[in-house]
Amino acid sequence: MRDISRREAMETMLLAGAGLTLTNLTNAEAQTAPVPKAFAGQHKPRPLPFDPTKLKGISEKLIKSHWENNYSGAVNALNVVERRLATMLADKDLPAYVYGDLKREELVRTGSVVLHEYYFANLGGDGKPGGDVLNAIKQAFTSYDQWEAEFKRTGNALGGGSGWVIFALNLHTGELHNYWSWDHMHNAPTGLSLLVLDMYEHAYHMDYGAAAAKYVDAFMQNVNWEEVNRRYMTAQRAVTAVKS
Ligand SMILES: [Fe+2]
Repeated sequence: MRDISRREAMETMLLAGAGLTLTNLTNAEAQTAPVPKAFAGQHKPRPLPFDPTKLKGISEKLIKSHWENNYSGAVNALNVVERRLATMLADKDLPAYVYGDLKREELVRTGSVVLHEYYFANLGGDGKPGGDVLNAIKQAFTSYDQWEAEFKRTGNALGGGSGWVIFALNLHTGELHNYWSWDHMHNAPTGLSLLVLDMYEHAYHMDYGAAAAKYVDAFMQNVNWEEVNRRYMTAQRAVTAVKS
C-alpha cells in the first residue's frame, strides 16, 4: 500500500462524499507537473459582510450555519475539485467520461460559491429599494410592487425544493428579469446577477420549517439595495459596452 498524504486522504473522502468514483489518479508525472492557475484550488470563504445578529426575521444561528456549512463547504469542495482536475489533466490515459464527472462538479461548486457570495452580499440592508435600479425596475415591470410580487412568487415556486431566484440584467438582451433557477448550474445565459435569493431548504428550514413564503418575506426586509444598485450600475455599463 502506497503512502498518501493527509491532504490526499481528505480530498478522496470529500470526493467520495460527492458521489464520485475516482481511483488512484495521482502519479509521479502528475505530481511534478506545474499546476495551472485555473486549477490552483486556493479559494477562501469571504467573511459575512453584515452583522448576523441584526437581520430581521432570519436568525444568527441560521446564517452562521449557512455560511459555515453550505457556503464554506462549497468553497472547500471547489478547491478539492480544482486540484484534482489538475492531477487528472496530467493523466493521459484517463477516459474523458471520468474527467467529465469532475468537470460537472467544478460547475456545481463554482455556481454554489458564486451565488452564495452574491446572496450574503445582498443581505444586511433595510429592504427599502432606491437608486437607478428602482427606476429601471419600474420601467421593466410597471411598478416596484409588480416586480416584487413576481420575485416572491418565483421564490415561493421553489419552496420545498431547491434553487435560486436571480434578478438579473441580461447582457445580451439588455432586459431585467427574475430568473428561476433550479440548482447551482441553472442560470440564464449572460444574466448578470443583481439580487440573489437562496431557496435551498438550508437557507430557511431552521427558522421557518416548511413555511418558505415567510422566509421570502423576511428576506425582502433585509435586502441591501445599495449593493443591488451598485451591481446594476456595473451591469448597465457592461451592457452599454457590449452594444457599442
Ligand atoms: Fe445556500
